[in-house]
Amino acid sequence: MQIWAIANQKGGVGKTTTVVTLAGLLAEVGYKVLLIDLDPHGSLTSYFSYEPDELDHSVYDLFQTAGDVTENQVNSLLCSTNVERIQLLPASTALATLERRAVEHEGMGLQVARALRHLKDRYDYVLIDSPPVLGVLMVNALAACHHLIVPAQTEFLALKGLERMIRTISMINRARKKKLSYTIIPTFYDRRTQASVSCLRELHKLYPDELASAVIPVDTKFRNASMKGVVPSALDAGSRGVHAYARLLRSLIEQRR
Ligand SMILES: Nc1ncnc2c1ncn2[C@@H]1O[C@H](COP(=O)(O)OP(=O)(O)OP(=O)(O)O)[C@@H](O)[C@H]1O
Ligand SMILES: [Mg+2]
Repeated sequence: MQIWAIANQKGGVGKTTTVVTLAGLLAEVGYKVLLIDLDPHGSLTSYFSYEPDELDHSVYDLFQTAGDVTENQVNSLLCSTNVERIQLLPASTALATLERRAVEHEGMGLQVARALRHLKDRYDYVLIDSPPVLGVLMVNALAACHHLIVPAQTEFLALKGLERMIRTISMINRARKKKLSYTIIPTFYDRRTQASVSCLRELHKLYPDELASAVIPVDTKFRNASMKGVVPSALDAGSRGVHAYARLLRSLIEQRR
């Protein structure tokens, strides 16, 4: 089981879209995929038609007490989606209260990793959608994953947010036994705009080893897919955006071999 976290401290850079699109592509070729929504806004949860305000059980349950998580507890949280091979561990809005209860975070950094131990043989891939804030939830995502994917919007303001994320990775690495590997993916790329073109050039210069060769273009099909609640490859497998994510996925899988 491969665990990938998708995170960036900047909002609206394409994190949830990356999770959903990669999941659709992985499921299509036969992999079993688990998605974990760690964002209190619950965009990923809403994507698959669950209401984050109305769920009685969610990933929040894992944070009721620090320490061991039982297999039954994890099982009770798994939800099906409209794609057979994709399951979801949903978020509820209660997650927001967790970030505020900072004093209680002692020992809470590994709750997601603990839960995933019970699911090792059931999924091929786990994709974790992380909120755009550095807090106990993002720490859980980074601690649980084997590889981190950092979507970065190709515009200059986004470079600052990215710098912050890279500093967070260094901080996390001090606590991890094994260094966290990561891939930066340029998103919202529009080759007709100077901002996109020069930002991509800058990304190449700053992060030559971590930058993905696949570049995700601006593509309105992503929004259409999210409005319909279907994975983008099910809406239009031939779209430019889906093609770019398929390229990214091939390189990620290749890299992990
Ligand atoms: N490559 C793209 N081209 C066009 N629109 C996109 C693209 N990627 C994402 N979007 C749209 O942009 C919006 C923000 O994307 P998304 O929700 O994936 O970002 P996010 O990083 O998860 O945001 P947040 O930080 O709020 O969780 C969504 O409406 C999504 O459909
Ligand atoms: Mg999101």
